[in-house]
Amino acid sequence: MKTVFECAEAFLHTTSIEEKLTLTHQAWHNWQLGKLNVNTSQPVLAISEVKFPNKPMLLAPRAMPNRKLTTAAGIAAFFHAIAHVEFMAISLAWDLLYRFRGLPEQFYQDWLQVADEEAQHFELLQAHLHTMNIQYGDLPAHNGLWDHAVDTADDLLGRLAMVPRCMEARGLDVTPALITKFEAMGDQTSVALLTRILTDEVGHVERGSHWFKFVCHQQGYVSEDKYKALINHYYRGGRPKGPFNREMRIIAGFSHTELDWLER
Ligand SMILES: [Fe+2]
Ligand SMILES: [Fe+2]
Repeated sequence: MKTVFECAEAFLHTTSIEEKLTLTHQAWHNWQLGKLNVNTSQPVLAISEVKFPNKPMLLAPRAMPNRKLTTAAGIAAFFHAIAHVEFMAISLAWDLLYRFRGLPEQFYQDWLQVADEEAQHFELLQAHLHTMNIQYGDLPAHNGLWDHAVDTADDLLGRLAMVPRCMEARGLDVTPALITKFEAMGDQTSVALLTRILTDEVGHVERGSHWFKFVCHQQGYVSEDKYKALINHYYRGGRPKGPFNREMRIIAGFSHTELDWLER
């Protein structure tokens, strides 16, 4: 029987997009059939070993092309940017379950399922980009997403605070307004796509909150205090920006105390 960590290693160390997608769906399928386990004595390889495709070219966020939704090219650039976020999200889910060992089996199942959903999001976006005559990699993408993973490679609570409970949670804040914009434009395909992603993302942030609180409890921390300390420590460039979607963030496991602090 294979371990989930062998699958993770295969995923993280190939540069092929196709291979990454196939490995992800296969692993989730095999997990559901009971064909993967979490027993391993293999060492965890350094995060610097993780590989990405050679396209898209990665640029600083401010060097990104215009993504205003007022032109066809802007809409294509917008969906290319979302495709990049979803592509990186597959790697972030795999890296989370690969790098942190000794947690309950449910932890590995949860993040493997998240990886599979992120792969589905990416594939939906790939198909959407094709209808606009571009493909993932044709435009540059911004290079900031992986930085949070590298910063927290040795800190599980830091990883959970920064990735699901900060970056992914941001999606809950901004996506509803985007859906409204595409609705106003009469673009039902984009509305359906973004709605599907938003629904799944609430679940991903919720799993992040669940495991954050679980590990805080295990290590004797008050989770709300630890969350503030970790965001203060790892967040670059000031503080997370609002407005925050209080309703969805509560469903996704944030407390009113945490939201009051973010909004302060
Ligand atoms: Fe996603
Ligand atoms: Fe996600």
